[in-house]
Amino acid sequence: MEHTPLHALFGVQVHDVDLRIITADDGYPEIRALFEEHSVLLFRDQTLSEDEQIKVAQLFGPIEDRSKGADGHDPVMSMVSNIDDDGGLADTESMHLKQLQAKQLWHTDSTFLPVPALINIAAARVLPSSGGETEFVSTRAAWCEMPPELKQQAAGKVFWHSYAQSRRQIDPELAKEDIIAMWNDEAWRSTWTNPVSGEEALYIASHVFAVDGMEPVDGMALVAALIEFATRDGTVYSHQWRLGDVIIWDERATLHRGRAWPYDEARSLSSLCVTARECDGLDSVRP
Ligand SMILES: [Fe+2]
Repeated sequence: MEHTPLHALFGVQVHDVDLRIITADDGYPEIRALFEEHSVLLFRDQTLSEDEQIKVAQLFGPIEDRSKGADGHDPVMSMVSNIDDDGGLADTESMHLKQLQAKQLWHTDSTFLPVPALINIAAARVLPSSGGETEFVSTRAAWCEMPPELKQQAAGKVFWHSYAQSRRQIDPELAKEDIIAMWNDEAWRSTWTNPVSGEEALYIASHVFAVDGMEPVDGMALVAALIEFATRDGTVYSHQWRLGDVIIWDERATLHRGRAWPYDEARSLSSLCVTARECDGLDSVRP
């Protein structure tokens, strides 16, 4: 598959692919190989319906279940959007907008779930006149290039993740919402080893609230230093969305964040995570 770099360190745009006709045997193996190597894949000029987006996601594995067993498990598309349930624009003081602001902290999706995510596949549905970029960094490149002193502090550590931790940074009330507070704390190792290449990547998120065996202040200082290093100047790919864009990213080897846009304009991405499995190297991140 023809592809061109998005950034010197990671990410490619994949050309001349219609994601609607990819199957497990035809197209997916090549896409999967590019995904393992480059971590972020951009496909332009796509016409994926939401059902077709779900089908592409399912090639990578099972769709994430956030129902916690409450009401069965149908694939649920998450809309990264300021359009509220009745079709209007969410108020700037609403919890809906605050939840969007929390997505603007550097994070990896779903580290607060009992089983974390392998991918997110996001498609542009409604775009504003400006802003709303999604930014990415490679945590594989970060781990590889990390100064030895910092790497030594992080190597072998176990990080504790909680959904409430990232939401609390925006508004303590947001952290108390049922869909946030329902999740228990989860512990993951500080690196995820890619089972195909053997390459390690820093595994971290705005959801981290503690480091095993470290005083709270020291642990959070380490987490801040690691995220700061991973996202330092020159490491960020900032994606300006166009209609028809679909991005698939590797949650094991990247950090991402949303950027603000004028909230008097609608913006909507349809976004879906796939749960990681043993074949994705899940064991390497378990404490
Ligand atoms: Fe996210």
